[in-house]
Amino acid sequence: ARTRQLDELMALLRIPSVSTTAAHKDDVAAAARWLGEHMQSIGLENVEIIATPGHPIVYADWLHAGDGQPTVLIYGHYDVQPVDPLELWLTPPFEPTVRAGGLYARGASDDKGQTFVHLKAVEALLAATGKLPVNVKFLLEGEEEVGSPALVDFVPNQQERLAADVGLISDSHILAPDQPSILYGLRGIWTGEVTVTGPATDLHSGTYGGVVHNPNQALAEMLAALHDGTGRVAVPDFYDDVRELDATERTALAQVPHGDEDVLRETGAPALWGAADYSVVERTGARPTLEINGMWGGFIDPGFKTVIPSQAHAKISCRLAPNQDPDRIGALVADYLHTLAPPTVEVTVKTGHVGHAFLTPLEVPALQAAAVAYERVFGSAPVYTLEGGSIPVVVIFQQALNIPVVLMGFGLPDDNLHAPNEKLDVESFYRGIATSIAFMQELAHQQ
Ligand code: BES
Ligand code: ZN
Repeated sequence: ARTRQLDELMALLRIPSVSTTAAHKDDVAAAARWLGEHMQSIGLENVEIIATPGHPIVYADWLHAGDGQPTVLIYGHYDVQPVDPLELWLTPPFEPTVRAGGLYARGASDDKGQTFVHLKAVEALLAATGKLPVNVKFLLEGEEEVGSPALVDFVPNQQERLAADVGLISDSHILAPDQPSILYGLRGIWTGEVTVTGPATDLHSGTYGGVVHNPNQALAEMLAALHDGTGRVAVPDFYDDVRELDATERTALAQVPHGDEDVLRETGAPALWGAADYSVVERTGARPTLEINGMWGGFIDPGFKTVIPSQAHAKISCRLAPNQDPDRIGALVADYLHTLAPPTVEVTVKTGHVGHAFLTPLEVPALQAAAVAYERVFGSAPVYTLEGGSIPVVVIFQQALNIPVVLMGFGLPDDNLHAPNEKLDVESFYRGIATSIAFMQELAHQQ
């Protein structure tokens, strides 16, 4: 069975369901159809591929647990990030390859592989016992990597269909192969694209250099002013609403075995950066940031072209702490960029994705069930920690469906998410299946 489970995942990974570019729209749809057919074949019911203005949502359920057993709403995303830079992949991103215990492919970890874990858990239980210990609803989307625009509207409009007692999401990683972790918080996000326009057209840098302000330079000066010398974001009022960590939580987070050395090893960066008054777990999990994800303008092809470009561009993302409102942060950043803009250029800021941060109380019973399940399969108790990535729908589950959400990751920190050579540890995949089964059984026992 193990080989078949992996082979099936590889078939799903072969579909290049990149959601961030229109060029792959049909591939994203194909992945949705593949999943719908697969869900049908393993015994899930009410399978539906739901068209949206963007990429489809896939729904399926199994609701025969009976006797007041709880319902688990399992969310995952089958869209993936682009593959660039392609030349750095050791094997092609959509030709899944097992090497040194890892299954390498775009989406292996984020999030096809981790989503597939739960389908295989459900299939195994249904095949072995003809039933599941709890009711299960699957909600899979193809737009997570573009901010879940359709899903954040869909969920509040489908409260009946999606009614559940707990949400379950595997779209994150644990701390190490033998150190499971449960996330009690994720950061929110705001993204925006900045365009700086100077002259009406590109200019000869010999004829006009020295009299026209180069937009690349103006943009660089503005971007450089977005942080102070200590690594704090310099946008006025940026930190106003940030949830402060109290001493108890800081003490608990200090126990999380993930520190400076781990980050240096994981990233290969020559030295760490950032506001040193917070630990790396605090800085990535609970403190907001502003990152320049891309900047371009002028001539970047091989060779030289002596030009003053008309425009320069940057893509910015802010990771947000609980209580920070993405729209307010976007407005603050845009205002500040306008303040920073010299009279020699014009600036526009266009918002991309937004999502609120997530935080859950540790007392939620389903978290205890997750802890028991992890411990049973991994042989060690999970630690509770915060993560810096964003999953926009988590907060919508909390607010619109009024359910707690368990973030039960099976990835590892070195899975290369959004990067070349993404992988899923093969052993983590099988452990994930066992943990998902144990979680459902444990939830049933809690009743
Ligand atoms: N799986 C990630 C989120 C994640 C990353 C959680 C690391 C925990 C640890 C997810 O697919 C993702 O990358 N989300 C985007 C959302 C954005 C495009 C709105 C993100 O965080 O950049
Ligand atoms: Zn993901």
